[in-house]
Amino acid sequence: SFAFSVDVRSRVDCSPDPHSLNEQKCKSRGCVWEFPQVDAPKETPPCYFPSTTGYVKTKDLGNGVLVLEKQNGPLNPFGADISPLKLKTHYIGSTFELSIGNDDRYIPPLNLPKEQPNDNSDPLDFQETSGTNGTFTFQMIRRSTGRIIWDTSIGGLLFADQYIQIATLLPSTNIFGFGEHVHKTLKHDMTRYTTWPMFATGFPPDSGSQLSTHPLYGVHPFYLCIEPDGKTHGVLLLNSNAQEVTLGPAPHLVYRTIGGQLDFVFFAGPTPEAAIQGYLSYIGKPFLPAYWALGYQLSRWGYQGVDEMKTVIRRNQAAGIPLDVAVADIDYMSTYEDFTEGEKWSTFPEYAQELHSQNVNLILIFDPAIENVSFVEWPRFDQVPTKIQDQYPLAKNTKMMLGNVWPERNVAFPDFLDPTNKTELWWIDEFRRFHDMLPYDGIWIDMNEPENFQTGTLKGNNSNGKTLQCIVDGIDGKFDNPPYETKAVYDGFDPFLASKTLCLNGLSIRGTNNLYNTKSLYGWSESRATAKAHQSAIKKRGAVISRSTFVSSGRYTGHWLGDNVARWEDLRTSVIGVIEFNFFGIPYVGSDICGFTGVTWEELCLRWHQMGAFHSFSRDHNMHYMPAQDPAVWPSVTKAAKIALTFRYRYLPYLYSLHYRASTIGSTVVRPLFFEFSSDSETFSIDRQFLWGKALMIAPALDPGIDSVHAYFPDDLWYSLQDETYGKIIPPGYNDVPAKNDTLTPVFARGGYILPRQTPSTTTKESRNNPFELLVTVGQNSISEGELYYDDGVTQFDSIDQNPHFSFNFTYSYSRTAASLNARWSTSISNYTLPTLDIIDIVGYDYTPDFNSFYLNGKRININIQTSSYSPFTRRLFISTKN
Ligand code: GLC
Repeated sequence: SFAFSVDVRSRVDCSPDPHSLNEQKCKSRGCVWEFPQVDAPKETPPCYFPSTTGYVKTKDLGNGVLVLEKQNGPLNPFGADISPLKLKTHYIGSTFELSIGNDDRYIPPLNLPKEQPNDNSDPLDFQETSGTNGTFTFQMIRRSTGRIIWDTSIGGLLFADQYIQIATLLPSTNIFGFGEHVHKTLKHDMTRYTTWPMFATGFPPDSGSQLSTHPLYGVHPFYLCIEPDGKTHGVLLLNSNAQEVTLGPAPHLVYRTIGGQLDFVFFAGPTPEAAIQGYLSYIGKPFLPAYWALGYQLSRWGYQGVDEMKTVIRRNQAAGIPLDVAVADIDYMSTYEDFTEGEKWSTFPEYAQELHSQNVNLILIFDPAIENVSFVEWPRFDQVPTKIQDQYPLAKNTKMMLGNVWPERNVAFPDFLDPTNKTELWWIDEFRRFHDMLPYDGIWIDMNEPENFQTGTLKGNNSNGKTLQCIVDGIDGKFDNPPYETKAVYDGFDPFLASKTLCLNGLSIRGTNNLYNTKSLYGWSESRATAKAHQSAIKKRGAVISRSTFVSSGRYTGHWLGDNVARWEDLRTSVIGVIEFNFFGIPYVGSDICGFTGVTWEELCLRWHQMGAFHSFSRDHNMHYMPAQDPAVWPSVTKAAKIALTFRYRYLPYLYSLHYRASTIGSTVVRPLFFEFSSDSETFSIDRQFLWGKALMIAPALDPGIDSVHAYFPDDLWYSLQDETYGKIIPPGYNDVPAKNDTLTPVFARGGYILPRQTPSTTTKESRNNPFELLVTVGQNSISEGELYYDDGVTQFDSIDQNPHFSFNFTYSYSRTAASLNARWSTSISNYTLPTLDIIDIVGYDYTPDFNSFYLNGKRININIQTSSYSPFTRRLFISTKN
């Protein structure tokens, strides 16, 4: 067997199933058994596929289509390999599609735009190679550098109906992405064999354990890789079945999926931002939230009635906390049923009006499942009278589509993939009618993995005393008990894929496909329907927030990181989670500030507000029965939240412009340092800091008992925006920066940029009427640049470009004798008065200014000498026209 022996660092596991094989069983699979030495990488599989495992190429049909046939052993341990298979390749600009499958294989119905990227300058090439024994293998190569970014010569291609596998060597250990999980580090640990399953589940994130690989709410099989020279590419595996990826030390990866086919898409970059731009052009760019949706939100589960909600909102307004959104959880409903109002909420509609008069918006939660008590009588949905079945399109014609979730009784799940649109029209109508009763402004959808309080169909045990109620006959067993279930089932509540969800043999798409293929698309399809319902009910932009997401969900929804715990670890991992969802094209994302589960405390809640003020979706949310944790509870938290949120409100024009850019060009809003400094490898592992676009860096305090943060400053000019040191340049490298709990979160502006601001008020509506300001940071070269996108914040036409807006491009340049600021602008609005530009704040200014000669676009500006200032020591020039 040693003839086949591969390096202990590049094995493709032949027994990914939970019960490790012994030598004899391993060999009976045709695999190699070689027990790893003590110094081998952690979790090295003892039983692995020889590199000859795979297919051979038997035909080239032209037009990028090859025919592959199974000829060499060993056989697929989890089913007969399908042969022949077609391998197809196709370019969309520099985006490269590679698909291995057959016409009858399942493909998720996402209707992706598949646009080519803006930057096609540095493409990737596909190269056929041939492995041992003529095994078909291939490489992906960056043409400009010859760098091999994929190399499948490691072997292991298998393709059975319910077990598909491919493995590749990678060009570096700089791998980022895959979701949704708790990742304790942004850069993946490639020193061991770690398997990350991807399957939509309602399990809460577990940041407390050393390594929790449990799959969470969403599915995003997308990663970024920084090549050794800093060039970066992205790769998507477009597949909706339960799947997993093992990241190994070669470095290499092994994909396993239990259905569908292998549809890979390679995004050439060559910068991280260009790789994301390529990805979002392909899958679709994120929706632009309403301007107010970037304001601060206050939420909790467990308000006793509308009066308690009022009290909490009022005390925070009274404390001067900037606040734009009041959120109501399931408490507002009557016995947790959608589209109803509870007894203690009869004055909710009037309260909604009152909130609106205070410029505060209302977001409501909705769960996907709809109750029908009659289900108790019929354990299988196909036994329910047709009249009732008609109301539950997803359940219709199915044996098992029932569950038990909010309202904590027996429910059926709407079929949002229903191609006849009946489900969607019904859903839209419910939201419209409910909005007539209770005028909400945004929609929060939850439990849409879909989560179930039990495993399978009905509450309680079946006659055998088992809670799993899926396997009713031999055929259905194929889906609920597949040959390989993936590691998604490991620490489940019941050891099945259906653990706390619906049976996978349940049908969707009007009975034409089962949840085995479509389950992870449930939240995606509900988001699509809900975005339409939102538009139809509210007729303005607002925001939809969804717990479960899939590739391209960002077109319809934002996301929060789910049921975290009031714990320092969860504060830290939410920095990583937010960065990753920006990779996934869902930049409207944040975590439950102060922590959801568990009793939070003053220091943690304070630090969480200081950090959460820099997440696009910025919401304090709390669990049922937990003590109140709104910022007004503790004076110290009030103060810190006010400072951080006031900073946020001042810079909202910048944040909103970043979201506009994300929606139109396809970019990240929050991004890691390596996005801007990919040639500095030190930045790759920085995951306690993040950027807003290119120009702001945030280094929040994430540990107890500290009053400074040890932060990394890549080689550039960084100006402090903290009060005590405003305008001061922080030198490159590691620095301890002050992070007191009663001052601003450490925030730094990068030299060479112009950031639009507005004097802040406590709601975005008022802030939007305040004067504009510009922060100019003088950079290493003589030009600084910035942009501002500004519209009314709520109008939504079919495409964003049609929205009436102003768009500004600012440039600042200096020479030995003069500095000048230019604003170029265009507009499609005629009857809209913009606030005036009253403040220009320049840091890094080296001249003694003459306050009588300032020009903007060549016109002299009248400066108020009293309120303007310059200091040669801080090098800050503050120009104000205000009296
Ligand atoms: C789920 C949500 C949580 C919400 C609760 C009650 O656990 O994740 O945010 O508060 O349900 O609706």
